[in-house]
Amino acid sequence: MARKSKTPRWLEAARRRGADAPVGGRADWLARALGRAGVMPRTQAEAAIRAGRVEVDGQVEVEPFAPVGPGRVVRVDGRECSLDTRLWVLMFHKPAGPVVHGSDPEGVGTVFERLRAVLPESLSGYEWYAVGRLDRDTTGLLLFTNDERFVRHGTAPETHLTKRYVARVEGRPDEAALQRLREGVELEDGLTRPAEARLREPEVVELTLTEGRHHQVKRMLAAVGHPVVALHRAAVGRVVLDVPEGTFRALRDGEISEGLGFRVEPQDVP
Ligand code: URA
Repeated sequence: MARKSKTPRWLEAARRRGADAPVGGRADWLARALGRAGVMPRTQAEAAIRAGRVEVDGQVEVEPFAPVGPGRVVRVDGRECSLDTRLWVLMFHKPAGPVVHGSDPEGVGTVFERLRAVLPESLSGYEWYAVGRLDRDTTGLLLFTNDERFVRHGTAPETHLTKRYVARVEGRPDEAALQRLREGVELEDGLTRPAEARLREPEVVELTLTEGRHHQVKRMLAAVGHPVVALHRAAVGRVVLDVPEGTFRALRDGEISEGLGFRVEPQDVP
């Protein structure tokens, strides 16, 4: 398999053209910068750039991967757009059904479509990234952001951000099963980290993890003899789901910093 290049695509594009990489904290490629700044989502931005509708510093730019740094004047259809980035993190209540994937070969619908269907116009120009995954049949708290740095923060194993799940299971877990969940369960990809586990009802387990491996809750509960019947994510960090199914709200800066442990930089605040 070909090794993935670590060089950002905008930097490769800059090198191909013999240009200097832009200097500055948030240098990026043009289409992505437009998506992050809420001008238009990335695929739309790529099409607009290729169609010659976008100018950088007075020159039409037809390369979506053209590097742009701070201070550039960008116009779309002649109108100047700010590439200043405000950090957004949205809490979305995922219903059972849609997949957390951009591609949808089975045609079941994606969470991105569900989110876009309820976004106001002021937020529809952003490119939205899901922060981690939930299975198709899992309901509950799914975070979206316009900033890939937040995606990395929310999904990096070393962040140890807590995720609280509520699982209806087969059978009635006893204290020994709960203790195994707390101490760590041996799965095919290794021992799970210590977790919190308690019974909410005889067949409902609340499990709080500090990692997010593929199908982890289902695999852990199956390993202790109680396969999951229905799974819901109730909280991430100290942010507790509080919106009805299928709806969203934007998190406040304090929720992002204190609730999710992400340092909000001055440039992230409007
Ligand atoms: N663990 C699972 O098994 N599924 C999810 O959707 C999330 C965590």
